[in-house]
Amino acid sequence: MSILRKIEHFREEEERLKWEGTFADYLNLLKEKPWIAQTAHSRVYNMIKDAGVEEANGKKEYQFFKDQLFGVNEALEKLVEEYFHSAAKRLDVRKRILLLMGPVSGGKSTLVTMLKRGLEQYSRTDKGAVYAIKGCPMHEDPLHLIPNHLRNEFYEEYGIKVEGNLSPLNMMRLEEEYSGRIEDVIVERIFFSEDKRTGIGTFSPSDPKSQDIADLTGSIDFSTIAEYGSESDPRAYRFDGELNKANRGMMEFQEMLKCDEKFLWHLLSLTQEGNFKAGRFALISADELIVAHTNESEYRSFIANKKNEALHSRIIVMKVPYNLKVSEEERIYQKMIQESDLSHVHIAPHALKVAAIFTILTRLQQPKKQGIDLLKKMRLYDGENVEGFNSQDVEELKQEYPDEGMSGIDPRYVINRISSAIIRKQLTSINALDVLRSIKEGLNEHASITKEDRERYMDFIAVARKEYDTIAKKEVQKAFVYSYDESAKTLMDNYLDNVEAYCNQNKLRDPLTGEEMTPDEKLMRSIEEQIGISENAKKAFREEILIRISAYARKGKKFDYNSHERLREAIQKKLFADLKDIVKITTSTKTPDESQLKKINEVIARLVDEHGYNSVSANELLRYVGSLLNR
Ligand SMILES: Nc1ncnc2c1ncn2[C@@H]1O[C@H](COP(=O)(O)OP(=O)(O)OP(=O)(O)O)[C@@H](O)[C@H]1O
Ligand SMILES: [Mg+2]
Repeated sequence: MSILRKIEHFREEEERLKWEGTFADYLNLLKEKPWIAQTAHSRVYNMIKDAGVEEANGKKEYQFFKDQLFGVNEALEKLVEEYFHSAAKRLDVRKRILLLMGPVSGGKSTLVTMLKRGLEQYSRTDKGAVYAIKGCPMHEDPLHLIPNHLRNEFYEEYGIKVEGNLSPLNMMRLEEEYSGRIEDVIVERIFFSEDKRTGIGTFSPSDPKSQDIADLTGSIDFSTIAEYGSESDPRAYRFDGELNKANRGMMEFQEMLKCDEKFLWHLLSLTQEGNFKAGRFALISADELIVAHTNESEYRSFIANKKNEALHSRIIVMKVPYNLKVSEEERIYQKMIQESDLSHVHIAPHALKVAAIFTILTRLQQPKKQGIDLLKKMRLYDGENVEGFNSQDVEELKQEYPDEGMSGIDPRYVINRISSAIIRKQLTSINALDVLRSIKEGLNEHASITKEDRERYMDFIAVARKEYDTIAKKEVQKAFVYSYDESAKTLMDNYLDNVEAYCNQNKLRDPLTGEEMTPDEKLMRSIEEQIGISENAKKAFREEILIRISAYARKGKKFDYNSHERLREAIQKKLFADLKDIVKITTSTKTPDESQLKKINEVIARLVDEHGYNSVSANELLRYVGSLLNR
C-alpha cells in the first residue's frame, strides 16, 4: 500500500470508528459493552494483557513489550502484576504516582513511550474504546453525570461503580445547554492522541524551582472574565493543563523529583483522592495514570529530605534495571543500530556479542556461591549450560543481589563508541576488536566512572577479548572444514561404532571389505584425550555414553552430535586439532602458494556466504586468527 493510500485508509477507519449519541444511547451501549466504562488504570492493564501473555517456567512474558524491551521480563512482570493489575482492580495503588527508577539509558523512557503509543492504538480498538462528554476539554467520563444519590442503584443495574464528581464546567453546561436533562447530554467516542492532547500528556517542568501550577491544572482566561463576569465562572477558566488533557489516559511527568516540594503538594490531593484543585472551583475529579521516572541517586536524595515524606508515601517505586543477558543485550544494540544512521555499516559477526559480554560483566555482582566466577555467572544468566549448575543455582545467584542491574555500563555508551569508531576512521565495516578498542578508549573520558570501576572495566575488556579469541578461532577452523557438521557427524558415528564394539566386546566389520576388525583404540583415545579423559577413566566414559544412547532410544529420541555435551566438545577439538597446522600455516603465511591461496579463497567465500561476513571482515578475521595461532 502506498503511503497516501495508507493515510486515506487511516482517515476512513477513523470515520468508521466515530460514535456520537445522547447519554441515553450511551447507557444502551454500556449494556452491550460494559467494559467501555473502565478506569484509566484498568484500560492500561487490559491493553497489556490483550497483547498476549506467554507463560514459561512459571514466569509471565508480556508480548506487549517484546518488540522494544529486551531482557527485563522480571521487572516488567512485577510492574504489570503489582502495579497495573492491582490498580485495575481499583486497589489503592491506583491512587499513587508510578515512579520508574533505574540507571541511565535503562529503557525507562522507552517503556513510557510504549505505554503512550499503545494507548493511542488501543483506544481505536473495540476493547479499548473510550467515551466522553462531548465538548469537554477534559474528556470527562459521561458516568459522572449520574447524580450521587442514584449511584447505588446504577451499580445494581449495570454492575459499574461510578467514582468522581461532575466537573464545574459540565455542571454548568448541563444546566445551560441541556436544561438539566442528563439523558440528552451528547457523548462521543474519543481517540487518545498525544499530538492532539487527548488523553495522553507529557509534563516537563520549565523551571523546577518556580514552576507554575497552572501548567498542570489550567488557568483563568482573563480575556473572558469580562464576558462571564466572574473568575469563578468555569467558562472563564481554561482547562488546558497537562493533568486536564491527560484525563482518562496517562500523563508522563518528566523530572518530577527535581520539582520544588511545594509544587508537588498539589499532586497530593490528586493522587490521594483522585481529584485536584483548579482555580476557584470545587475539586475536579481526574482518572489518569501518572508516571514519572528517576535514577537511583536522585531518588535517594529525594527520600532523604524529610519534607518529602508525605509525597513519598503516595509514590509507588518500580525498578527498571539493566538487562543482564548477553544475547538480549546484543538485540538491544541491533535495535539501536537499526534506528540510527549506522544501519548501512557492516558489523562483523560477534562484534556486538563481544561488546555485550563486556557490558554485562560491568553490571554483574561478584557471585558468593562456591565454584562460580563472573564469567560462569554471565553464561548461566544467559541460559547457557554450565557444567555442574542448574536453573536452581541461577535462582539462588539472582537472590544473592536483589539490586543487581542498577549500575554498570549503559547501552547508549556502547552505541556511541561504535559510531565514534566508525566516524573517526571512516569505516564501512567494523569488527569486534574495533568495538572493544573504542569502548576502552572511551572509558578514560567517561566522566561518571570512578577510578576503581575503570580498573575493573579494563579487566573486563581483557576478558571479553579472550572470549572473542576463542570464538574467532572456532569460526575460522569451522570454515576450514568443507562441511563442518558432516565431518563432525562422521567422526562421531565412527567413534560410537567403536565404543559400542569395545563395551560389548564385539568386533567391527569393515564396511568395504567385510573383514572383522578389533575396535580402533587409537582413534577412541585421540578423541577422549581432547577433554582430558585418562586411560583409567576411559571405560567409565564409554559406558556412560552407551547408557545415554540407550536412554535416548527408550524415549524414542535420536542421539546425535548435540546429545552429549562433553562428547561434542571432544569431537570438535579433535577436528580442530587435526586441522590446526593447516589453519595455522595457511592463515599466517605472507606469501601463500597456489594451493594455499585456493584454500584461503574458499574459506573466505564460506565465511561470507554462510557466516555473515563481508570480504573485508573475513580477511581481517583470518589474519587475526593466524596471529593468534602463531603466538
Ligand atoms: N532493556 C532494553 N531493551 C531494549 N532497549 C533498551 C533496553 N534498555 C535500554 N534500551 C535502549 O537504550 C536506549 C536508551 O533507553 P531510554 O532512553 O528508554 O532509557 P532511560 O532509562 O529513559 O534513560 P535516561 O535515564 O537517560 O532517561 C533506547 O534506545 C532504548 O531502546
Ligand atoms: Mg529517559
